[in-house]
This record gives sequence, C-alpha cells and structure tokens, in this order.
Amino acid sequence: MFNLILFGPPGSGKGTQSEKLIARYGLKHLSTGDLLRSEISRQTSLGQAAKNFMDKGELVPDEVVIGMISSSLDENPGVAGFLFDGFPRTSAQAEALDKLLQLKKESIGVMLALHVTEEELVKRLLKRGETSGRSDDNNENVIRNRIIEYQNKTAAVADYYQQFNKVVMVEGEGTIEEIFNDLCAEIDKRIK
Ligand code: AP5
Ligand code: MG
Repeated sequence: MFNLILFGPPGSGKGTQSEKLIARYGLKHLSTGDLLRSEISRQTSLGQAAKNFMDKGELVPDEVVIGMISSSLDENPGVAGFLFDGFPRTSAQAEALDKLLQLKKESIGVMLALHVTEEELVKRLLKRGETSGRSDDNNENVIRNRIIEYQNKTAAVADYYQQFNKVVMVEGEGTIEEIFNDLCAEIDKRIK
C-alpha cells in the first residue's frame, strides 16, 4: 500500500489535485471535509454538531474526525492506498492516524505540502464562494479564521512528519497541470 497525505492551508488545491491523483494512482480519497459535508447534507447528528464549528471556520473536535477516519479505513480493505486530504489537522490526529495504520501494519509514505501565499488563498476561496454554496467560503472573516486555525493548530502537523523525514514541499501556485506534474514526480520517486 502507498499512503499519501496531501497537506496545505484552506484553498491550496488539495481537493483539486486529489481528484487527479486518485485517477492516476488508484488511491482511495479520504477527505474529512467532504465526509463532514456529507454528514451535514444527510442531517445526521454528527453533521449537525460539526456544522456549528465549520460555519465559524473552526476545526471540528479531534474525536469526531478520528472516528470517521477509523471507520473509513475499515470500510476499504484491499485498496492500493489512501490519499488523506484535510486530515490530519492537529498533532493529536497525526498520532491517532499513525496508530490506526500501525494496527493494519501500514504507514504514511509521504506528506506532500502545497505552498500558497495567504492572499492567493483568500482570493481563490472568495471566488469559489460565489458559486460553491459552501457556507464557509462566502465570508472573508470565516476564510481568515480558517487560515488562523491552520496556522495555530495544523501547521505543526508538518513538523510531526518532518521528524520522520516524510515531508516534501511543493509549489502550489501555477497551473493545475504544472502542480499535478510536480506532485506526480515526487510520488513516482517513492513507489516501485
Ligand atoms: P476542508 O473541506 O478540508 O476545507 P479546507 O482545508 O478549508 O480547504 P478547501 O477544501 O476549501 O481547499 P483545498 O485545499 O481542498 O483547495 P481546492 O482544491 O478546493 O475543511 C472544511 C472544514 O471542515 C474545516 O474548516 C473544519 O471545520 C472541518 N474539518 C475538515 N477536516 C477536519 C479535520 N481533520 N479536523 C477538524 N476539522 C476538520 O481549491 C480551492 C479553490 O481554488 C477552488 O475553487 C479551485 O478551483 C481553485 N484552485 C485550485 N488550484 C488552483 C490553481 N492552481 N490556481 C488557481 N486556482 C486554483
Ligand atoms: Mg478541500
């Protein structure tokens, strides 16, 4: 199995690049943001609890997202690997993921970290907010709060994987195709 974390701040292109990467490498895409939005649209109690945090641009509590990821790992035996998008987002989530993978005798192959400037992030998300219907995209204060949460709680996750030499920074500005090619080059170095 080849397990990959696509890392980066809100709007850095994780979802866009994930779609292309899963098509090329046959990985199973696990986006906690998508899983949470699905819970909201199905009006589950988990979704209703998560929505209060998401609408403010705050992280959902660790135990909620760790539980979702644990179930998703169990529900997908025999895949070529997992592409984690938007998870882990705290050090506690990173440690929990390592334990869950260890139970399956698996580990993270690499963390690819997209670098995009804050002004570009805000520009992209406000533009998407015109049409996405995502309640966390159409208010600049909420977008800025998502970036603050990233800086305060999520950026440290890269330090966690850096201690195992698993982090590769990739330029996240440019055309979607250019960035995709850079990501593929890093993956190809690591898979047989
Ligand atoms: P989540 O859904 O993960 O959102 P996010 O990380 O805030 O970021 P986005 O999904 O908005 O951006 P992205 O990096 O995927 O970029 P995209 O490809 O879409 O999380 C939402 C919320 O859920 C969180 O705030 C939190 O409340 C909760 N949550 C989720 N996971 C959690 C966790 N693990 N723990 C706790 N809480 C959690 O691209 C963005 C835009 O840019 C698009 O319009 C795209 O078309 C455009 N674009 C992409 N690439 C380019 C390019 N190269 N040039 C120009 N435009 C581009
Ligand atoms: Mg996304």
